[in-house]
Amino acid sequence: MRAYIKGLGTFVPSRVVTNADLAEKMDTSDEWIRQRTGIVERRYVEEGTASSDLGCAATKAAAEDAGIALEEIDFIILATLSPDRFFPGTACYMQAKLGLPGVPALDIRQQCTGFVYGLTLAESLVRSGGYRNILLVGAEVHSHSLDFTTRGRDVAVLFGDGAGAAIVSPLEDGSERGILAHALHADGRFAEKLCIHGWDISRDPYMTAEDIEAGEQYPKMEGRYVFKEAVTRVPQVIHEVLAKTGHSVADLDLLVPHQANLRINEAVAKQIGIDPAKVVNNIQRFGNTTAASIALALADARAQDRLHPGDLVCLAALGSGFTWGALTLRW
Ligand code: COA
Repeated sequence: MRAYIKGLGTFVPSRVVTNADLAEKMDTSDEWIRQRTGIVERRYVEEGTASSDLGCAATKAAAEDAGIALEEIDFIILATLSPDRFFPGTACYMQAKLGLPGVPALDIRQQCTGFVYGLTLAESLVRSGGYRNILLVGAEVHSHSLDFTTRGRDVAVLFGDGAGAAIVSPLEDGSERGILAHALHADGRFAEKLCIHGWDISRDPYMTAEDIEAGEQYPKMEGRYVFKEAVTRVPQVIHEVLAKTGHSVADLDLLVPHQANLRINEAVAKQIGIDPAKVVNNIQRFGNTTAASIALALADARAQDRLHPGDLVCLAALGSGFTWGALTLRW
């Protein structure tokens, strides 16, 4: 039995934050951000909005798109690196807000690869567990945990808030659609290359006033290292997942990469030799929305009539951990 994406939905907050807005808070410029990353603007939530709120809004859009009632959702997977609280899991908050008591709720923490890991998990649960409408959400509120001083400019300019959701269901029409293959990886030896160092449960207390003074509560990244890893491992994993079904890059109709940096996606496209017109990029409008980015890009491709029934699509990502992976599907 195959699983497929029965419905797709997204939600981004209405507040647009331009590069010029950020330049008022820190020593940066529209030119620097555009040149290095391609980002023009991103969305930020208003005070009082959590990742679960964005996730619920995207869920409602996905359920409507799938033509199901919320009550038909029978499993919830939430991918986020910006959970509402340290515990319990944000999927539980979302489940309560959606009014789905009793439905299993699972958080996964694979950062920018969260949507690819989550789709893989959802597919397995459809195949092995008999679930009929698995809700997969990627939701992020980054704007409440970034260092908006010049000290944090290398990271703060990259990220935006948003959510994407998919309803994953068994395919019952006998067609060739659905999720075909996946390839997942992780290498925890590089965990410290992109993480929040100040949050350390091996210490008592796990975060000190000195940490906060030093800005260690904010994400830190070795940008060049992450960039190099992405442009090496993402092409590799795309080839790996395509090989599983005997496909090649030439067979692809659409590549939907994680949106971390437009330059990364351009370099990946060049390396694998795909026509840039087949690569979906919307980081220009949303920045890096981590676990939400692939769903936002996929939804954009569909809205722009770039995604058609039967198309061979590859999703691919690398993120903190490091985690990376790719998944192919026929739309
Ligand atoms: N505005 C202006 N200048 C900035 C800046 C900003 N927002 N951020 C950093 N700089 C400065 C640095 O301080 C440095 O100055 P110096 O030369 O005087 O020391 C200079 O720009 C170059 O910094 P560097 O970090 O080497 O830039 P870069 O070319 O590597 O680009 C990134 C930085 C973050 C855009 C790039 O490394 C990147 O995209 N990495 C991958 C990020 C990623 O994918 N993250 C998510 C993974 S899922």
